[in-house]
Amino acid sequence: MKPVLAIEDLCLGIRNEDGLKPILDHVCLEVGRGQVQGLAGESGSGKTITGLVVTGLEPAKSEVSGHIWMDGNDLLQITGSSLNAIRGRRVGTVFQDPSTSLHPQLTVGAQLTDHVRYHLRVSKTEAMDRAVRMLDRVGVAGGRATLQRYPHEFSGGQRQRIAIAAALACDPSVLIADEPTTALDVTVQAGVLNLIRELVDSLGLAVLFITHDLGVMSAVADNVAIMRQGRIVENGPRQAVFASPQHAYTRELLAALPGARGGLKSRADLARIMPLAPDEPGQTMAPASEAGAV
Ligand SMILES: Nc1ncnc2c1ncn2[C@@H]1O[C@H](COP(=O)(O)OP(=O)(O)OP(=O)(O)O)[C@@H](O)[C@H]1O
Ligand SMILES: [Mg+2]
Repeated sequence: MKPVLAIEDLCLGIRNEDGLKPILDHVCLEVGRGQVQGLAGESGSGKTITGLVVTGLEPAKSEVSGHIWMDGNDLLQITGSSLNAIRGRRVGTVFQDPSTSLHPQLTVGAQLTDHVRYHLRVSKTEAMDRAVRMLDRVGVAGGRATLQRYPHEFSGGQRQRIAIAAALACDPSVLIADEPTTALDVTVQAGVLNLIRELVDSLGLAVLFITHDLGVMSAVADNVAIMRQGRIVENGPRQAVFASPQHAYTRELLAALPGARGGLKSRADLARIMPLAPDEPGQTMAPASEAGAV
């Protein structure tokens, strides 16, 4: 199946007074419809920057090469209104802290309708109807009254659900989720992970899911890529990467999970700390609600 988003040989360096600091080194990633591609790795390895390049928000003084294919276009080659149309409409983003995505002084309604009216050219009433449906979809109750409220009137988990609704309001085919549950406590985290998985399955979204937490990753990702110093060192189906990691760095990351003290020597050790599917093909891992509590 043709990927919805294909990152090919992406290199990025940031120019500073000492020259060009290399950040990303020939990164290749693909995400298909209805799939979650996880991207894990230690702090500073380049996960966030990878997502930012896709949305066109890479740091100033970045020098970028490679390709980012979407809808038959290379996002690194097209400019102007076509780029806006793809990036603004076809790619949604959710960040760790919902206050990065949500403006504190704008009502929830404004944040769920302004870009919809711009990108989809629909009336205010239609945009509001869409917004209410979207809030309902992400599990924020209250209907039209919710549209009049401000982000601070909601809990952290609800705010993240509203940020997800805002990211999905224009019906994107790709969602970049950068540590979307890291700021939430564990029980709320499980609910948001379940929501993301449910949206992927029902809407056929292609998600690039960035996290440093392999426990969270095990709850939501179909494929897992491991990044180190700007390079993808391992990429494959979640179960294969977790059950038999090929790269020493992946084994280190797994061993660093809570509960893995003393090392992970066997599949049984791994099964102690995260849900694993049986080896038989066609079987899936434990549901995300259990996995989220890892
Ligand atoms: N605006 C910027 N200007 C210069 N360098 C930057 C900028 N943003 C990030 N970097 C550098 O790029 C590298 C990758 O950063 P990035 O934020 O992608 O890491 P990350 O894997 O997301 O880490 P974390 O898990 O902490 O979020 C780091 O060396 C960082 O210092
Ligand atoms: Mg980051």
